[in-house]
Amino acid sequence: MTLADLVVVANRLPVDRVSDADGGDGWRRSPGGLVTALEPVMRREDGAWVGWPGQPDLEVEPFEFEGTHLVPVALSADEVENYYEGFSNDTIWPLYHDVIAAPQYRRVWWEAYVRVNRRFAEAAASVAAEGATVWVQDYQLQLVPQLLRTARPDLTIGYFHHIPFPAYGLYSQLPWRRQVLEGLLGADVIGFQRVTDASNFARAVRRQLRYETKATGIRVPDADGTTRLALAKAFPISIDATSYADLARRPDIRARAAEIREGLGNPHTVFLGVDRLDYTKGIRHRLKAFGEILEDGRLGVENATLVQVASPSRERVESYIQLRDEIELMVGRINGDHDTVGHTAIRYLHQAFPREEMVALFLAADVMLVTALRDGMNLVAKEYVASRIDNRGVLILSEFAGAADELGSAVRINPHDIDGLKDAMMRAAEMPAAEQGRRMRALRRKVIENDISAWSASFLAALDAVRTQKDAR
Ligand code: G6P
Repeated sequence: MTLADLVVVANRLPVDRVSDADGGDGWRRSPGGLVTALEPVMRREDGAWVGWPGQPDLEVEPFEFEGTHLVPVALSADEVENYYEGFSNDTIWPLYHDVIAAPQYRRVWWEAYVRVNRRFAEAAASVAAEGATVWVQDYQLQLVPQLLRTARPDLTIGYFHHIPFPAYGLYSQLPWRRQVLEGLLGADVIGFQRVTDASNFARAVRRQLRYETKATGIRVPDADGTTRLALAKAFPISIDATSYADLARRPDIRARAAEIREGLGNPHTVFLGVDRLDYTKGIRHRLKAFGEILEDGRLGVENATLVQVASPSRERVESYIQLRDEIELMVGRINGDHDTVGHTAIRYLHQAFPREEMVALFLAADVMLVTALRDGMNLVAKEYVASRIDNRGVLILSEFAGAADELGSAVRINPHDIDGLKDAMMRAAEMPAAEQGRRMRALRRKVIENDISAWSASFLAALDAVRTQKDAR
C-alpha cells in the first residue's frame, strides 16, 4: 500500500455508498463542505482519508476515489449503536451543546468509543508516511490524537473540533473528562470554531490537568519528561463561497426559485429555515414565533409563508425521535389553525435536497432564519449569504451560533426571547431594500474573504509551522 504525506481522519468517508440501476454498488462524493474543501488539497498531496463507510458491518478494502486514497474503517452494528449513536451523539453531542438535551453517561458507550477511536488511530498510523501530517476531524474522534502520537511520534498531528466546546461547569460532568482532554492534547494544533471554545478548552485543561496555558499555547508534558507547546485556537470554518455564487447565477436555478415562490402562492414574505432535524437548531422556537405572529394577526398566510427544510438525522437516537414528533405536532397544529385552501402557513419538508435546490430555496427566501440554541458555526447562514448575489434578503442569526462572531451585519437574535424573535422577524419582513443591500453586501464580503480554502490553508499552515520547528530541532 502506498503511504501518504497527508492523512485526514474523520468519522465518515468523503463518499456515500450508492446502488445503481442494475443493483451494483458504487460510491458518490458526499455533498458536505469539508469534503469539497479538502478535495484539491488531497489531490495535490496525494492524500489518504480514513473514515467509516456509513453502514454497519460494511467491510471494504482501501480504494482510490477521484485522486484520494480511501481507507474504510468498519463498524459493527453494536459499535454503531454504542460509539456513534450512543457516546458520540447521545453523550458528547448534547453535553457540548450546553445540555439542551440531557446527556446520557453509559460506561458501555465509553468502552466502545475507546475501542473505535483505537481502530481509527491504527488505520491512520498504517497509511501515514514517515513524518506525515495527520488531520483528525471532530468530536467522534477525540482520543485519536493521543493514540496516534504514542504509536507514531514522528507525525505532526492536527485536530479540528467542528462543534462547540462547553464551559467548564458543564464539561466537568463528563465522567471521562481527563481522558478526553488528554486525547485531544495529543495534537500539535487543536482548532476550534470560536475564540470562546478555545478558551473553554484551555480552562478545562488548567482545571483538570493543571497544565500551564498562555494565550493560545498549552504546555504539555511528554512521556520522555520534556514538554512541548500545543496550539489551541480558533479557525472559524467556512464554505466554498464561489460555488454557491456560481449556482445562484445559473438561469435554471433562478427559474426554479421563481417557480418555488409561485408554488407557495407568491406571498410577500417567504421565511426559510434549513437544518438537520436537531434539537440544537431551535426549530421549535422558530415555529412558535411564526405561529404567534399569525395568531396575533401581524401577518397572514396570504402574505407570509415559512418553508422549513428539516433533513433527517440520527433517526435512531431517542431525543431525535422525540423532537421529530414535537415538531410535526406543532407544524400540524399551526397549519390546521391558519391554512386556507390556497395558502399554507408552514411548508414542512423532512427531506434532504441537492445543492442546486438549496440555492433555489435561498434565492426564493426573503428572510433566512438561523435560530440555533447552540451551534459550532452554522454553515447554512454562510450558504444563504453566498447565494444572495443580488444583495437582497435578510439573515436572522442567533448569537449562539459560531457564525455570529463574523456575521455582525445580520439581524442578531436570542432564540429564547420569543417576543424579540417575533419583532426581528417583522422587522426583517418589512426591511427596506436599501438596508437589505447594505447588510447583505457587508455579509457577503466576510464570507467571500474567509472561504473554506482560506480555512484549510490556515490550519495546514499552522501544522506546517509545527513541522518546520520539529525538523529544526
Ligand atoms: C455535524 C458534525 C459532523 C457530522 C454532521 C452530520 O456537522 O459536526 O461531524 O458529520 O453533523 O451528522 P452525522 O451524525 O450524520 O455524521
